[in-house]
Amino acid sequence: MTAESRIHQLRAELDQHNYRYYVLDEPSVPDAEYDRLFNELKALEAEHPHLVTPDSPTQRVGGSALAAFSQVRHEVPMLSLGNAFEENDLREFDRRVVEGLDQPGAVDYSCEPKLDGLAVSLLYRDGQLVQGATRGDGSTGEDISSNVRTVRNIPLKLQGSGWPAVLEVRGEVYMSKAGFDRLNATQAESGGKTFANPRNAAAGSLRQLDSKITASRPLEFCCYGLGQVSETIADSHIGILEQLKAWGLPISRELKHAAGIEECLAYYQDIGARRNDLPYEIDGVVFKVNSLASQRELGFRAREPRWAIAHKFPALEELTEVLDVEFQVGRTGAVTPVARLKPVKVAGVTVSNATLHNMDEVARLGLRIGDTVIIRRAGDVIPQVMQVVLERRPDDARPVQVPTACPVCGSQVERTQLIKRSKGKETTSEGAVYRCVGRLACAAQLKQAIIHYVSRRAMDIDGLGEKSVEQLVDEGLIRSPADLYSLTFEQIVDLEGFAEVSSNKLLEAIKDSKRPSLARFIYALGIPDVGEETAKVLARSLGSLARVQVALPQILTYLPDIGLEVAHEIHNFFEDAHNRDVIQQLLDSGMQLQDEGDLAPEFAASTTLAGMIAKLDIASVGPTGAEKLVAKLGSLEQIIAADGIDLRQALAAKQAEAVREFFKVEANQQLARAIEAQLREFGMHWESEKKVVEGLPLAGQTWVLTGSLERMSRDIAKDKLESLGAKVAGSVSGKTHCVVAGPGAGSKLAKASELGVKVLDEDAFIVFLGEQGISV
Ligand code: IVH
Repeated sequence: MTAESRIHQLRAELDQHNYRYYVLDEPSVPDAEYDRLFNELKALEAEHPHLVTPDSPTQRVGGSALAAFSQVRHEVPMLSLGNAFEENDLREFDRRVVEGLDQPGAVDYSCEPKLDGLAVSLLYRDGQLVQGATRGDGSTGEDISSNVRTVRNIPLKLQGSGWPAVLEVRGEVYMSKAGFDRLNATQAESGGKTFANPRNAAAGSLRQLDSKITASRPLEFCCYGLGQVSETIADSHIGILEQLKAWGLPISRELKHAAGIEECLAYYQDIGARRNDLPYEIDGVVFKVNSLASQRELGFRAREPRWAIAHKFPALEELTEVLDVEFQVGRTGAVTPVARLKPVKVAGVTVSNATLHNMDEVARLGLRIGDTVIIRRAGDVIPQVMQVVLERRPDDARPVQVPTACPVCGSQVERTQLIKRSKGKETTSEGAVYRCVGRLACAAQLKQAIIHYVSRRAMDIDGLGEKSVEQLVDEGLIRSPADLYSLTFEQIVDLEGFAEVSSNKLLEAIKDSKRPSLARFIYALGIPDVGEETAKVLARSLGSLARVQVALPQILTYLPDIGLEVAHEIHNFFEDAHNRDVIQQLLDSGMQLQDEGDLAPEFAASTTLAGMIAKLDIASVGPTGAEKLVAKLGSLEQIIAADGIDLRQALAAKQAEAVREFFKVEANQQLARAIEAQLREFGMHWESEKKVVEGLPLAGQTWVLTGSLERMSRDIAKDKLESLGAKVAGSVSGKTHCVVAGPGAGSKLAKASELGVKVLDEDAFIVFLGEQGISV
């Protein structure tokens, strides 16, 4: 086959795949296969540049930047739609339509979502895309041909046959919610401009003079009508859209036919209920009289068709004023700015507060007190301040200032530091978070700390709600989590909402919480940045509370997924005298941690003297250099004492120099000695360096839990398996070692038997745990 015919073949195949993917929503090949064909075409075109045509699928990368857009006159004006907000507005519209038509009876409508993007017109001549234009003022728009060519689901040439010589289609260019989130994330990372909503992002992306920028943005197109055409296509709106779809133009998957206005209302309700789950944003639905003859009969009024209407949903964004910015104190003392707003209804809910996250966010928004802002509330997401409307800033707008004293307890507020280590040096910089140093002496932190301590995934003390915690703290009955264990029946029964039975139940629950696993206990302490997973890592790797309490930050960074920042948080938490007192009180109140033991064998094995030296981050000394150093010099003391000549026996000149420079600093010597001493104290043996140490009994295994377990919760079963070293996964595959199946197990059990994976019922599982020394 010649290069030319292969090129044609590849283009036809790729166009077909695109059509299946974007228009029919039925991908025919995996992405990898598509990429392979695409790359083959690209390579062939590179070899034979004279065979490149503008409609090749490779030509969606954007061309050279323009100085300005030229103007395009719309042969058929691009109109707008009248709006209906209430059911009554819609019934009124239907009445006008019925009265305006000669033929009596119910009218057929088409129903489509109203996409929130921007209107564009695409002109096809003889099936080839020749022009793209914005709506502009409706009569004249801008020529954005190079830009629309980069939108993946706009066909550069039409499929099939029979299209009119001149075919102008109209539709909406928009950005999906996922595309918008991705774009904003990359923009934020690269310090670029972020967008307030998908609509602005779509508009900003399409109106770029440099089409290469447009090409890099996740834009999509959806077709909803026609402009000028040289021939009639069909006699109904839905007929037209179906024909356009057959020619390869994407139309809405939600396009429906409605016989009469009641069905339109039902469509509005249905789409409204699914609005948050749709992958793109819509601001309403559009109803159009389906018959084109009826459309002609009805005609236009001013710049709106009498035969179509937009039925709007409540807006997700509203404008309001920032009355004040207050600071809230969270569990870990983080002092968070919260905007107090002039109450405003957003998507049906009155919003009067919005979190501003941290001071970096306040700076990013450039927000001042008194500003008018755009508030957005999408789905269940908490309201967000999206943008400041600078034009509306009053003269007396005040900058937001972080309080120097905690608004709850009056303690000092400090800015957190970010710690980085490179080339053996730790450097700190200012963080975005401010923190009240009051810890549990601060009522706000104390309340949150207790609420966290008793929560289900922490100590699981049932029966103590937020209101009761607040009362206990406000009345001075509790000054730390440890005080929970000395609460008396009389104190509890006096609380609002408590009676005899509930008080006894709570006392019982408090007593029952005294035998937590080490991981739960660590999690319950509420160390900043330590969630359940990190607590498990700490418990499993270090094996005892005593080790976790004294571990040096550097050693904590040896553990999986713990970075320097978190390591310092953990270390600082346990260094704090007040926290140490609380932990001691908890232990004194009879706390028995369940599963304390040795250092995890895999941790002991992975940490070697060479490994430890490599992690000191001495400039240019990596794992290999460290290995050589240890092989030659044997011990840390000898390495510290070595002179240039000794070091040169093991390392290159530059590395040897770096090691000497590093250990010249007294503080570095001390740090290295302290780390080594602590590792030894923890039971590490340098001799274990090359020995392969057997891990936990289920290390490397993946287990799956399914169905309901009767004698323990799934969380507990998961904890037990993890304590034996197993990973607990959510789905069964060929890699699953064992499935624990309780009553009600369904597809996962079926899959396990299909794959021949071992299955245990709850009784057998409990016997198995017993054999591993774990009681239930
Ligand atoms: S029909 C003559 N259908 O809404 C009718 N418009 O205010 C022209 N829009 O500028 C528009 N989805 O950008 C129509 N399914 C849909 C639409 C839709 C979004 C936009 C369009 C237009 C505006 C009308």
